[in-house]
Amino acid sequence: MQVVRNLKELRARLGGESQICCVPTMGNIHDGHLSLVKIGKERAPLVVTTIFVNRLQFGQGEDFEKYPRTFEDDCEKLKALGNDIVFCPDETQMYPEPQTFFIDPPKIANRLEGRFRPGHFRGVCTVVTKLFNAVQPQMAVFGKKDYQQLAIIRELTAQLSFPIEIIPAETVRADDGLALSSRNRYLSESERAEAPRLRQAMLQIEEAIRGGDRKYVAMEYLAGSLLARHGWNVDYVVIRAQKGLARPSLDEKKLVVLGAAKLGATRLIDNLEINID
Ligand code: PAF
Repeated sequence: MQVVRNLKELRARLGGESQICCVPTMGNIHDGHLSLVKIGKERAPLVVTTIFVNRLQFGQGEDFEKYPRTFEDDCEKLKALGNDIVFCPDETQMYPEPQTFFIDPPKIANRLEGRFRPGHFRGVCTVVTKLFNAVQPQMAVFGKKDYQQLAIIRELTAQLSFPIEIIPAETVRADDGLALSSRNRYLSESERAEAPRLRQAMLQIEEAIRGGDRKYVAMEYLAGSLLARHGWNVDYVVIRAQKGLARPSLDEKKLVVLGAAKLGATRLIDNLEINID
């Protein structure tokens, strides 16, 4: 596995390659990321995993400084899986001068995550555009765990006419249902034991919907209150249409429950797609 730290070297290495799959990450590689790389390996002869903790997508008071950086360990895991290239630029490569041009996403980026993390998706879209430009892949894999991010990146790719196929990957979970995330490591023992409740609240919503209930606002409220009673600080638990993440009509068949809530200082997000036949 080759480790490439600068753009010039990357371009020289990738010139002439025609089937590249890019897996953008911020490192601290866990089984969730590895599942993206596995998909990449099935789809393309050359997988480039990028590792870059992108300052632009962190708001004030967020965890940019303490975001886990575990580069040696990450490389071992990626190498064991047959990942071909790790592109790990530092800030002087990605932002040689302060970034003053940005990719400004549309309204969808101001809702849900965007409401609680203003500017987050602008930072994500800007860095993903730069990474796409650096790697020039034919395809890229993004996890469904960051559901809104995936929706926005799909739209970005379509609207900016990037000739890149965006491949969605299912969320990888621990045995008790908790979605794998680099931020899980911030949880204390008791918070970790409590953490699967976010998913459980979503599964209860699914059960109600499959049982014919369509009182979405009431279901959202109940899920939020259940979490709050168990000590969560809830940003949102909402039911949306999968396409566009708007409030669903009563006959919408493709729904997604999206949630974000804090346990202590750790903010967790998750989602659950519900396809009604
Ligand atoms: O999902 C992530 O890890 C990040 O948002 C991404 C897509 C690598 C951009 O920094």
